[in-house]
Amino acid sequence: MFETLKAQPADKILALVQAYRDDPRDTKIDLGVGVYKDATGLTPVMRAVKAAEHKLWEEQDSKAYTGLAGDPAFGDAMIALVLGTAVARANVAAAATPGGTGAVRQAFELIQMAAPRARVFVSNPTWPNHLSILKYLGMEMVPYRYFDEETRGVDFDGMIADLKTARKGDVVLLHGCCHNPTGANLNSAEWDAVIKVLLETGAVPMIDIAYQGFGDGLDEDAAATRKVAAAVPECLIAASCSKNFGIYRERTGILMAVSSDASARGLNQDTLAYLNRQNFSFPPDHGARLVTMILTDDALRADWQAELEDVRQSMLGLREQLASELRRLAGSDRFAFLAQHRGMFSRLGTTPEMVEKLRADHGIYMVGDSRMNIAGLNAQTVPILAKAIIDTGV
Ligand code: LMR
Repeated sequence: MFETLKAQPADKILALVQAYRDDPRDTKIDLGVGVYKDATGLTPVMRAVKAAEHKLWEEQDSKAYTGLAGDPAFGDAMIALVLGTAVARANVAAAATPGGTGAVRQAFELIQMAAPRARVFVSNPTWPNHLSILKYLGMEMVPYRYFDEETRGVDFDGMIADLKTARKGDVVLLHGCCHNPTGANLNSAEWDAVIKVLLETGAVPMIDIAYQGFGDGLDEDAAATRKVAAAVPECLIAASCSKNFGIYRERTGILMAVSSDASARGLNQDTLAYLNRQNFSFPPDHGARLVTMILTDDALRADWQAELEDVRQSMLGLREQLASELRRLAGSDRFAFLAQHRGMFSRLGTTPEMVEKLRADHGIYMVGDSRMNIAGLNAQTVPILAKAIIDTGV
């Protein structure tokens, strides 16, 4: 049987991790996979997470199964974190998943069950794994314009024109904040226009929110998701705790199905639990439990928020430093977009050949589409990157 297997395309982001490891140069700079690193290059365990783990170790007296949708307390805490008071709790079904990717996968499967002919509109570009999972599931996808290669901002007119071609029952996949891979985001008025198109077309929004707290702040980053959820009859939300709690390997995420009709919740909840059971049975609990402990304990929560804010500020500082270094070297403002982008990533907007040249000549690793993980930089490496960008002729 195994002889029939075909080699699958390597994941571009993860392949880069290996290539970086294999590079013997000690001057190399890793701007690849979306993992936060502090100024020393470490991806730290957050203080509140450590404290919660300690408490859990002391207090937990069983590792027996929780529920198919995870511990309901995790659902409550995450719904409040992501949605605030934008929609009534009674309208939201939710299930814990293995990471945000697990939530994305379960959302696609739910769409397939509910609307087998739905087309999924995806931003061009989007996180490559969105496309890969949709392809794997055999679902039809329709790219919508998103990134303006010229301005490195959002091609808003193109986006709206493309979204208007969605039909009732189609799904529009949106990034709640900190767009991956571009770093270019919609403003509040633009979100309003997107909502208008969703209401006109009857397309169902699916929001992937993986970087809440990395852009403009916890509430600010959730504002668009809240606005959409409050305005449309139905939506799906896939949220990740990997980045904002720094618990990448614990695989902690949640899928929410929001309906303006509270009577839909029971069936939605049962469907989410059913889908979990088919795919992996019970979701991982450790990370979800830590998140719940942190979000429901005033002191832990305050410490987590303070540390997350430091992380956010450090990325903003790096953005400012990089943009100003490039302004100095280029003698122009053509890299000013780097300070305007939000989240971990910025798409530099150059060719794969230039990206390869930056790797070969300078040991700078970014994804082939020129996505840079800003958190992979520090105050010392910013000038090195800026000089390499200019020397390479980007
Ligand atoms: C990324 O985009 O680098 C992260 O979301 C990590 C991943 O799984 O790709």
